Amino acid sequence: MIETIQWTDEGVVMINQTRLPAEETYVTCRTYQEVADAIRTMIIRGAPAIGVAAAMGVAIGVAKANPAELDAQLEVISKELASTRPTAVNLFWAIDRMNRLYREVRHLPFEEVRDRLIAEAKLVRAEDIEINVAMGKHGAPLVPDGKTVLTHCNAGALATAGYGTALGVIRAAIESGKNIDVYADETRPFLQGARLTVWELQHDGIQATLITDNMAGHFLRAGQIGCVVVGADRIAANGDVANKIGTYSVAVLAKENNIPFYVAAPISTLDLTLASGEQIPIEERGAAEVTHVFGVPVAPAGTLVRNPAFDVTPNRYVTAIITEKGVARAPFESSLRELAGGTR
Ligand code: MRU
Repeated sequence: MIETIQWTDEGVVMINQTRLPAEETYVTCRTYQEVADAIRTMIIRGAPAIGVAAAMGVAIGVAKANPAELDAQLEVISKELASTRPTAVNLFWAIDRMNRLYREVRHLPFEEVRDRLIAEAKLVRAEDIEINVAMGKHGAPLVPDGKTVLTHCNAGALATAGYGTALGVIRAAIESGKNIDVYADETRPFLQGARLTVWELQHDGIQATLITDNMAGHFLRAGQIGCVVVGADRIAANGDVANKIGTYSVAVLAKENNIPFYVAAPISTLDLTLASGEQIPIEERGAAEVTHVFGVPVAPAGTLVRNPAFDVTPNRYVTAIITEKGVARAPFESSLRELAGGTR
């Protein structure tokens, strides 16, 4: 399995996703500031993976903090990590989880506090893999046999601690004996589909065909796509889903063509404090991601640009949300709350 992120004696080691597929290189973050930079610059990306990174960032920050000023330093560390990216709620979920544990153990000697936080960060990682495997088991029966699955962005092992959310469902469907292949949207402008999803599927011997984003409608209409499976960065209480920009267009086209549109996401991606997707903060990234491709300009200098990194798919386009606790269907207000069981 691809090792996306690991805790080592040297620091937090991450596969550098900005260098894939050309180079498989690894970055070692030795401070919480380096972890924050890795999240900001998308060395690590994908909602569950940045949650794991944030948990490890808190742990490494505390491990290197001045024991006499732990309360104040934890606040600074948490603020810095929380400022990296606004949309994926897993980031804030992980920072909260680490802070809750800190409050429980802060009376203990520093070495014990440090060790407990490191153990918790490792647990967040291990649990994420188990959660993805469980999600795969719930999702696999939904995938039509003998058809193609369309996916958008990268919601695979690289976007998680391992196995993946949407790609986990695809892996589990194949492991259950289904004969399926994958169409991957290239996912402009950051090209997570072309660079990461295709690389990851090839690595695991799963047949992947790359299409540009504007080809999705053509293939959804052509009859060979059995379902769409995507991940999510934040899901509101009513089942509106924030995911990589372009997901909304795919969902509308899927509904228009009577193709099921599934979202695979862990319970930690639910934000039941938000009534609808309208309240989800959408990250706007730099213009160069749109005007340049690998450093080469593809638009005239000075071009005005918008670059929202995510969009919101209204719940009416979502056939079901696959979680580690089971599959939620409309009405999502009740089905999601029931699955979350008061945990989110
Ligand atoms: O900007 P990114 O690459 O972090 O966006 C990632 C996505 O939108 C994924 O589809 C989402 O996080 C689901 S990952 C399991």
